[in-house]
Amino acid sequence: MPNINHCRCILVIGGTSGLGRKLALSILNLPSRPMVIVCGRRQERLDELAASYGPSGRLKTMRLDITSDPSTLRSAVSSIVRAYPDLDAVMFSSGTQQYFDLTRPETINLDHLSNELTTNYTSVVNLIVLFLPQLIRIGSSGRPAFLYLVSAGMAVIPWVPNFSASKAALHNLSMALAVQLRRKNVHVVEIMPPLVESEMYARLPHRDQLATFWMPLDECTKQTMAGLVAGAPQIPIGMMAPVHQKYVAGKLEAASKMLQNHEETRRGNVVNPNTVFPSRGQ
Ligand SMILES: NC(=O)c1ccc[n+]([C@@H]2O[C@H](COP(=O)([O-])OP(=O)(O)OC[C@H]3O[C@@H](n4cnc5c(N)ncnc54)[C@H](OP(=O)(O)O)[C@@H]3O)[C@@H](O)[C@H]2O)c1
Repeated sequence: MPNINHCRCILVIGGTSGLGRKLALSILNLPSRPMVIVCGRRQERLDELAASYGPSGRLKTMRLDITSDPSTLRSAVSSIVRAYPDLDAVMFSSGTQQYFDLTRPETINLDHLSNELTTNYTSVVNLIVLFLPQLIRIGSSGRPAFLYLVSAGMAVIPWVPNFSASKAALHNLSMALAVQLRRKNVHVVEIMPPLVESEMYARLPHRDQLATFWMPLDECTKQTMAGLVAGAPQIPIGMMAPVHQKYVAGKLEAASKMLQNHEETRRGNVVNPNTVFPSRGQ
């Protein structure tokens, strides 16, 4: 099964801290010795990574704000692909999270709302579209290519307004991409973390309470790496495993059947929807 060990050159977007940073370093240590390129906005974090791990010759950095305008993103993607023609995997660990209290709408800043959606979804889908020609080219050459998307448990249990919706969009996108791109030898993997130790919560007044029950970052990284090595298409971490089993299991297969059904119909063949999705008792 294609898995992270087949990857020769990976770009980790959102690798300057947290899960992205830990995963970038764990991937750097794989026995397959891939090239790892780390992206983010904070230059001092990129400099620290380059100083500590650059001498390996396999860790590179590049500053990128994924919310930049489409022409900036297009030229960033072109220069990455030109510099690393072996690029066969892109991981999106970038993200932002805010709390909006919908019972007090006067407190909600619409710019913040929009930025959360752009960071967590629109920029990601834009970049995926821009990287796909490279990934499809690698896939057609006979070796697998990969897209790794970090969504969230809150994509499935939507209790945080806007953040949950942005991650639900990413969750749905990852399944639609997975079923379409499989035939191009591009493998899409969704990572679904629970609440995890993070700098993201540093400014929250209840950070210390969260710290009493969040998953330690090292544990989350370990479980994610195990899923990446196993080649799992969806990696629910920790308490997300039973949530995945209850609300998500079977959806990817259903989406795949739906696509086949649609293609059969377009070819003029009649497909009985009941044979595609048998109702209970059939
Ligand atoms: N921690 C949790 O409890 C939790 C739970 C579920 C899902 N997740 C998801 O897991 C992923 C990693 O989160 P984390 O906990 O590791 O948070 P984190 O430490 O805050 O990391 C977020 C990363 O995203 C990057 N980023 C944010 N905005 C960006 C932008 N406009 N352009 C480029 N990079 C940007 C940040 O880099 P710069 O600031 O340097 O740009 C940073 O590297 C996120 O997608 C998050 O939503 C986290």
